[in-house]
Amino acid sequence: MDRAELITELIKYNEGDPKRSQHLIKVHSLAAVIGRGEGLKSEEMEILETAAITHDIGIRLSEKKYGNCCGSNQEKEGPGEAEKLLKRLGYPQKVTDRVCWLIGHHHTYDNIVEQDHRILVEADFLVNLYEDGAGRKEIESAYDRIFRTETGRTLCRAMFGLDENERPDSDKADYSQAKVRQGYVVTEKCVQCRSCVDVCPMQCIDGSRKPVYINQEKCLHCGTCAGVCDHKAIIAVNKC
Ligand code: SF4
Ligand code: SF4
Ligand SMILES: [Fe+2]
Repeated sequence: MDRAELITELIKYNEGDPKRSQHLIKVHSLAAVIGRGEGLKSEEMEILETAAITHDIGIRLSEKKYGNCCGSNQEKEGPGEAEKLLKRLGYPQKVTDRVCWLIGHHHTYDNIVEQDHRILVEADFLVNLYEDGAGRKEIESAYDRIFRTETGRTLCRAMFGLDENERPDSDKADYSQAKVRQGYVVTEKCVQCRSCVDVCPMQCIDGSRKPVYINQEKCLHCGTCAGVCDHKAIIAVNKC
């Protein structure tokens, strides 16, 4: 299917929001580079590229329905939106099904098994780390925990100037530029049930306090914690 046509459709879908359109173009481009570098076949590339172009399609609806676009809400609303669009454009059902699954899991980092899922997450991280102004420590943490493909790791090191031999706690590491970005914060509604503590892939929520406390230096802003909190005590105070 024609990627240019799909990109045009998504730019129209995100009308008036150029940042969102530029984001998807960057994620698509990097996903394509990683996919080729990792030797994906043509059908796998079609699925990966289609997912990269459409991965954030749930944001508008999430914002409208819930007033935020945290990762779990995007994963909930995105697949339905993508299905409608891809059906209208005549995509094969097999491609649509896999793309919808990927959209529904693109903020799920704790059980990445398939290569297309891994590559989509890596491409999104490459773009988000830059767009969100991530500090050195946050970038190194993502590099260690998220990047697994050789191509993705090479791109991440080159893009952010990482030295594989220089670990985060090395004496040489310079964190002076590190910025804390308040992606998710816990409010007084917290009853200290610890559900969020158990699901956090970075283990960066301190459950011994009430409200529980998110270590912003380690947080990857995945939104998993906000999605499991029945008390709506975790809120996204910035963008997702
Ligand atoms: S899931 Fe919600 S209520 Fe439970 S500890 Fe986390 S923030 Fe507090
Ligand atoms: S604290 Fe950060 S890394 Fe942990 S689940 Fe919440 S958003 Fe994700
Ligand atoms: Fe994204």
